[in-house]
Amino acid sequence: MIRISGLSFKYEGGREEALKNIDITVRRGDFLGVIGSSGAGKTTLLHAINGIIPHHFHGDYYGSVKVNGSDTVDNKPEQLAGTVGSVRQDFESQMVSSVVEDEILFGLENFSVPRDEIEKRLTDALDKTGIRNLRERNIATLSGGQKQKVAISAIIALMPDVLVLDEPTGELDPQSSRQIFRLLRELNEKHGITIIVVEQKIMLLCEFARSLAVMDGGKIILEGPVADVLKSSRQMESAGVNCPRVVTLADRLKDENLYMGPVPVNIPEAEKMVRSITL
Ligand SMILES: Nc1ncnc2c1ncn2[C@@H]1O[C@H](COP(=O)(O)OP(=O)(O)OP(=O)(O)O)[C@@H](O)[C@H]1O
Ligand SMILES: [Mg+2]
Repeated sequence: MIRISGLSFKYEGGREEALKNIDITVRRGDFLGVIGSSGAGKTTLLHAINGIIPHHFHGDYYGSVKVNGSDTVDNKPEQLAGTVGSVRQDFESQMVSSVVEDEILFGLENFSVPRDEIEKRLTDALDKTGIRNLRERNIATLSGGQKQKVAISAIIALMPDVLVLDEPTGELDPQSSRQIFRLLRELNEKHGITIIVVEQKIMLLCEFARSLAVMDGGKIILEGPVADVLKSSRQMESAGVNCPRVVTLADRLKDENLYMGPVPVNIPEAEKMVRSITL
């Protein structure tokens, strides 16, 4: 589905390569979380997937990014947008309308969706994100979480195979952040949309993502199913990623030979781990 091979990229005028020899394959239906400290190259990686690199940002580009078999170099972001939908970090500046339905219509009309299909696409998108009741609301009066859902709806309406999100919960409180991740899970599980999400909140990623990629200094240093990646918690810490406390607790217990089981990735699993310890 998305195959990145030997990808290196240095921004024009940049001192160092922002991406260094990246190899990763994201399969159809995956839910991939990308994590890493500031400047690790996460946003740059997303730009390379949605075609913003190399089409809008120029620089030294090596390797290839293939989406459904075709190279992003040969497809402008506008052409890719039907396949890869992107919600940017500053999603509010991505918005162009003052009313919810207009925001979604804007994208549909821009992508020349046939008139008789527009209403269905609009209501479907609002239903998938659970905000049908906000259809006629003024965007300025919505909460941060609701605005984020509007931004996601506008992209979902274009029916992309892949949804790429850059820190979608950056401005949100814990409860709205979970809501967004529940929505992403539903889009992934019910509607088969492949999700690639950059997120700083590791607990959310561990709970909702299926696989994890850890970036450091322009490289992907760890990648795989969440539970496997968490086994390398010390490498994550040295890349500036704070592991969930249950993971570091498991490491310590293992060091003391008090626990040998799998690394817990959520609270119920952590409880199981603690209960299994007999002193
Ligand atoms: N437009 C640009 N021109 C030159 N260098 C850039 C540009 N955008 C990013 N960079 C550099 O590329 C590197 C990777 O940046 P990127 O924005 O991808 O990191 P990030 O992991 O998304 O960080 P953050 O967590 O702060 O969003 C950094 O060293 C950054 O300074
Ligand atoms: Mg970024």
